[in-house]
Amino acid sequence: MFAKSQSFVLASGNPGKIREIQAILEGHPIVAQSQFNVIEAEETGSTFVENAIIKARNAALHCQLPAIADDSGLIVDALNGAPGVISARYAGKGASDLDNLNKLLRDMEGVPDEQRSARFVCVMVLMEHADDPFPVIAQGVWEGRILTHPVGINGFGYDPVFLVPDYQCASAELPPAVKNSLSHRGQALKQLTALVAARQSV
Ligand code: IMP
Repeated sequence: MFAKSQSFVLASGNPGKIREIQAILEGHPIVAQSQFNVIEAEETGSTFVENAIIKARNAALHCQLPAIADDSGLIVDALNGAPGVISARYAGKGASDLDNLNKLLRDMEGVPDEQRSARFVCVMVLMEHADDPFPVIAQGVWEGRILTHPVGINGFGYDPVFLVPDYQCASAELPPAVKNSLSHRGQALKQLTALVAARQSV
């Protein structure tokens, strides 16, 4: 159970993520783990859920606060689910977003239109403490297709090659507010908010 104004530590130093989460989880102050000099945990899991739990447990342990972590990535059907949990390092350790995107396009060369289905997924977890046996787990999925060439300048990562079918444009062509209202991360965050509210003490 969480007290109404309970602070949460976020297992990320990304200011954009902190702002986005703070705006939705209104009543709960969000603190970045970087303020506690936390050393980031290694993402050794083979699923998004495992990696999100590893990150949240690490933050909860070092900050002694309930901790939120997210893990996200791209799943491409024609590549048997790759890049999956290694989305951020698909082209190798230290690879840039552009390196990863170019590798994806190379791997998808020659794949026909009807076999280019893909989805962004996001898992968000909240652990009350490092030994919490019942973490809050929320998930979001955003269905799309992989384009043959990059378009658009918004967003990050694979956004320039992710076709959003309802809008017939790449995710990198959507205004940020529209992307947030549709995206895997936006959906997971909304679900997390509802689940946290349900565990709030009265
Ligand atoms: P993380 O969950 O922030 O570590 O993101 C993992 C990786 O998945 C990112 O580095 C991107 O390559 C990819 N990714 C996750 N979400 C998005 C998105 O909304 N747009 C584009 N790429 C994304």
